[in-house]
Amino acid sequence: LTVAILAGGLSHEREVSLRSGRRVAGVLRDKGLNVEVLDVDAELLPRLREVAPDVVWPLLHGSTGEDGSLQNLLDLLGLPYVGTGAASCRLASHKPVAKSLLRAAGLATPDYAALPQSLFREVGARAVLGAIEHRLGMPLVIKPASGGSALGVTVVQTAEELPEAMVACFAYGDQALIESAVTGTEVAVSVVDLGDGPRALPPVEIVTDGPYDYDARYNAGRSEYFVPARLDEVQMRTVSDLAVAVHTTLGLRHLSRTDIILDDAGTAWFLDVNVAPGMTETSLFPQAAQADQTDVDELYVAIVRAALG
Ligand code: DAL
Repeated sequence: LTVAILAGGLSHEREVSLRSGRRVAGVLRDKGLNVEVLDVDAELLPRLREVAPDVVWPLLHGSTGEDGSLQNLLDLLGLPYVGTGAASCRLASHKPVAKSLLRAAGLATPDYAALPQSLFREVGARAVLGAIEHRLGMPLVIKPASGGSALGVTVVQTAEELPEAMVACFAYGDQALIESAVTGTEVAVSVVDLGDGPRALPPVEIVTDGPYDYDARYNAGRSEYFVPARLDEVQMRTVSDLAVAVHTTLGLRHLSRTDIILDDAGTAWFLDVNVAPGMTETSLFPQAAQADQTDVDELYVAIVRAALG
């Protein structure tokens, strides 16, 4: 069985993706599979023809990796692949779109506004930010509408901090998501779906000194993880149910990871979902799989087999 892992690419999360790709490749090779890791560039099509994989595992992260473009191409080529189909990738990876769909399905997500950068030019930054502050209050979280690994994300406590946060955000894309900040326990719940229905893996609780930013995510020892999360039974069920509902509502396939804040009143707030969750040494999906006491290596092989149908 030949698996082509697609990694790298042009997104800001290129380095993370290469780390994810190498790690998954190592696991699958140890299990006896023939694996090629292909960096996604202009040579992709000839390389795919050369490798002639039975199945592809797209491990690209970030806006151009998880937005369905690559999946569209694989559909056109008639290649089976691990993970969510193109249309659902597009919906899930655009944070404001995902939030609006999930809210319409009755799930809790912080209040928000989605703003294109052009609005700032047309109406003026002062007017736009004044209206946002009036509507959402403070504190706020400013994020690029697509992309992950907390790149371009700032938590602002006062209106004075907003302009700088917007500049940081627009460095990563021309649409911003501005969200009311919700406080509570930060958990990530991975979901696995091998054709027999989605199942939540043990929630991972994230504890950091400062923000859970790029540095805190990818440098070992910068964040503390509790797997399973230090939650009671009801809280465990609440966050797990939310992740499964997100997976189902957005039509996701094989695997996903939902990032959640559980507040003191017991409400689980959807923040974000990853259709290609990170698979690095410090990433959350592998930690959850490990805690599930499933053989993680077997799980990756099972995911590949699920993609083959
Ligand atoms: N977007 C990165 C890869 C993650 O959340 O795991």
